[in-house]
Amino acid sequence: MDRLDKYIKMVENRLYDIFPAEEPDHAEVIRAAKYSLSAGGKRIRPVLTLAFCEMCGGKPEKALDAACAIEYMHTYSLIHDDLPCMDDDDLRRGKPSCHKAFGEATALLAGDALAILPFEMLASSLEISPSAAVKCIRALSHLCGMDGMIGGQQTDTAYAGKELSGETLIGMYSRKTSALIKAACLCGVYCAESPDEERYAALAEEYAEDLGLAFQIIDDILDVTSSAEVLGKPVGVDEKLDKHTYVRTFGLGRAEDAAGEYTRKAVEALKGFPDSEFVKNITMLLLSRKK
Ligand code: IPE
Ligand code: IPE
Ligand code: MG
Ligand code: MG
Ligand code: MG
Repeated sequence: MDRLDKYIKMVENRLYDIFPAEEPDHAEVIRAAKYSLSAGGKRIRPVLTLAFCEMCGGKPEKALDAACAIEYMHTYSLIHDDLPCMDDDDLRRGKPSCHKAFGEATALLAGDALAILPFEMLASSLEISPSAAVKCIRALSHLCGMDGMIGGQQTDTAYAGKELSGETLIGMYSRKTSALIKAACLCGVYCAESPDEERYAALAEEYAEDLGLAFQIIDDILDVTSSAEVLGKPVGVDEKLDKHTYVRTFGLGRAEDAAGEYTRKAVEALKGFPDSEFVKNITMLLLSRKK
């Protein structure tokens, strides 16, 4: 898709502009952050930020700094997720994970740096009003915090090998995966600065909640059906770590059905936007993704 490629290029061309010079004494943490950011990845979250801005009547350029902020936050979450104290994975985005390439301390610091950089990026964006920047910062910090992504990662880690209800499992997915996707979509809405913002924000949250659930279920399916060569990360991890996943709780067939159903619900929420064709196409593409 031309527009998808265009959005990915826009983000990748902007990602490093805010990076400091590589001063010799602390260059390693800067290199580690760049290494993980540039290793590739689908860039689906920043693309959603740009797409939601455009869908709400704003030029995608207005949301470019916010889109980069989202990709920093996502990359930090992956670096920390791979650490030996978390999922202990050696491969990420087709390359040795950050701690394998740079050591654990530098990977931890690179993750920390990428978790903070979004706020500098948003606070210094020249594309949006201070009020839009504050809304983005509030949404991102809340949704990635203790009742958001970090809370979800806590449940994921703490309940490995222990009993967990289906309801708590969905709550965990909502936090560890939907929350950041919600932040991505909401930032797009806020950057558009539309008079219809409140209505669009509510729809964006509805959409992102369901897309996130589908996205994580598919990630879990791929963990048992794909290969490290295709995914660029190890497979069989969830079973090895005795993690709770939709696939392990309900089986592969029900997981596939649920991914389809959550995707259908996500698409349904898009109907409230004037022109949602592009976002709908990405959503369907994600359902059939192979990596
Ligand atoms: C992986 O996200 C983490 C999950 C929430 C499942 P992605 O599958 O979007 O990872 P990249 O950015 O493409 O590497
Ligand atoms: C990660 O879930 C969710 C995050 C918040 C990073 P996973 O642990 O399943 O992600 P992968 O499979 O390592 O990418
Ligand atoms: Mg994990
Ligand atoms: Mg993991
Ligand atoms: Mg996974």
